Amino acid sequence: MTQPGESILIVDFGSQVTQLIARRVREAGVYSEIAPFNAAAEAFERMKPGGVILSGSPASVLEDGSPRVPQAIFESGLPVLGICYGQQVMMQQLGGNVQLGDSGEFGRAFIEIADSCVLFDGLWAEGETHQVWMSHGDKVTSLAPGFRPVAASAGAPFAVIADDTRRYYAMQFHPEVVHTPDGAKLLANFVRHVCGLKGDWTMAEFRQTKIEEIRKQVGTGKVICGLSGGVDSAVAAVLIHEAIGEQLTCVFVDHGLMRSGEADQVVSLFRGHYNIPLVHVNAETLFLNGLAGVTDPEAKRKFIGKTFIDVFEEEAKKIGGAEFLAQGTLYPDVIESVSFTGGPSVTIKSHHNVGGLPERMNMKLVEPLRELFKDEVRALGRELGLPDVFVGRHPFPGPGLAIRIPGEVTKERCDILRKADAVYLEEIRNAGLYDAIWQAFAVLLPVKTVGVMGDGRTYDSVCGLRAVTSTDGMTADVYPFDASFLTRVATRIVNEVKGVNRVVYDYTSKPPGTIEWE
Ligand code: XMP
Repeated sequence: MTQPGESILIVDFGSQVTQLIARRVREAGVYSEIAPFNAAAEAFERMKPGGVILSGSPASVLEDGSPRVPQAIFESGLPVLGICYGQQVMMQQLGGNVQLGDSGEFGRAFIEIADSCVLFDGLWAEGETHQVWMSHGDKVTSLAPGFRPVAASAGAPFAVIADDTRRYYAMQFHPEVVHTPDGAKLLANFVRHVCGLKGDWTMAEFRQTKIEEIRKQVGTGKVICGLSGGVDSAVAAVLIHEAIGEQLTCVFVDHGLMRSGEADQVVSLFRGHYNIPLVHVNAETLFLNGLAGVTDPEAKRKFIGKTFIDVFEEEAKKIGGAEFLAQGTLYPDVIESVSFTGGPSVTIKSHHNVGGLPERMNMKLVEPLRELFKDEVRALGRELGLPDVFVGRHPFPGPGLAIRIPGEVTKERCDILRKADAVYLEEIRNAGLYDAIWQAFAVLLPVKTVGVMGDGRTYDSVCGLRAVTSTDGMTADVYPFDASFLTRVATRIVNEVKGVNRVVYDYTSKPPGTIEWE
């Protein structure tokens, strides 16, 4: 367990990227927890952290009722680091001044290092210029007593400020985003050199902490976990099983829209390897019958989502008496679906999850992966002993192959796609490229074209190939295969997969494309 004083409290004022601060602190080997500003006093008291980081915010400190730092934090004598709004709110509360920005700075900016500072240890020296990422309208115009400026940008004279006596530091830019190339090191310097934390926290400790949290939340209650066949729900299930054993039952609703061999792999992993109670529902016919004649992407997604919930609910009722529903929700799922302002955001695609189910069934949620990013979930999966091939698997969408078959989905088309996809992935693995790619898959197009094979005419479907690199699925670049690789895959697919006589490669990044075709 994390020792008192060996953690960092992150006070969240509503920035879109607060979780990235937590992630950077974890990367520096220090356990951290995020508390919303209005629950921060309580979290501070409970956690007894070794330091505090104040996040950014869409609010302005000059607005009436905008959030403040609990006074107990400033009275504790602990180190505090303010980021963006966090800097402005520190100045406002400690006796400096903040002015409404008329223009602001957004995006890449350069700061000049004016003085030495413990945050710059081993990193930046006086007189140097470094790239940072700014995103602010308001700015600090005079410093609170005790502070000195240590770096400045064109738009922010107090880009980094320090009060070494009280161990208070603050910056106008965002060190947590990758566009501040040295940002992770600045944060590591704060937690290690300013707060003096050891930095020996690991995923093994995360596992222990979560296990204890799950036990505390669930008590002697029963938990049901829906497996999708993907990494996230599998990692969540194995972690929860480790915490509460037989109190967990997994339900795998097999919609028949999985990739080749995938359903068997999930069943043998859970039943055979882990001996976790698993209900395997083969609902292929139900799903395919319902998809007959459906061509609109949103209609497909909605039908699959709803039917999944219906089947899941029926199975959960059969198991009976479960108070909790476990989900492998990750942080990117949380930010994509929650809008800080509560305003409407555009639905690009209706994502498939069991949202709405807990209320309908009157169940409480267990979501142990909520603060993690995909690569951290993979690290946790390895820590839990899940096989590498499983943990390293490319993400697969809930609606499965249905959204990779534009037009009507039929069993025959699913089978054709499964074969083409398997050939493509086999070639990718053989070329040693699988781990360099975020996602690669085949798409079966509702277009038939003329070809010639042997001496005969063919009239068959077109198969599209997609491969992208990404860090979180929110943006993506096309994977630049060698032409010879693509030629080999195309030849094999046309030769080996009956029903396909032409192969094309998708060269669209996200944005403007999306990763899946529907
Ligand atoms: P798009 O196509 O929106 O996909 O660029 C971004 C990432 O999300 C995955 N995806 C889904 N995952 N349920 C999921 O669990 C869904 O309904 C869904 N739709 C897309 C997609 O595979 C990619 O990794």
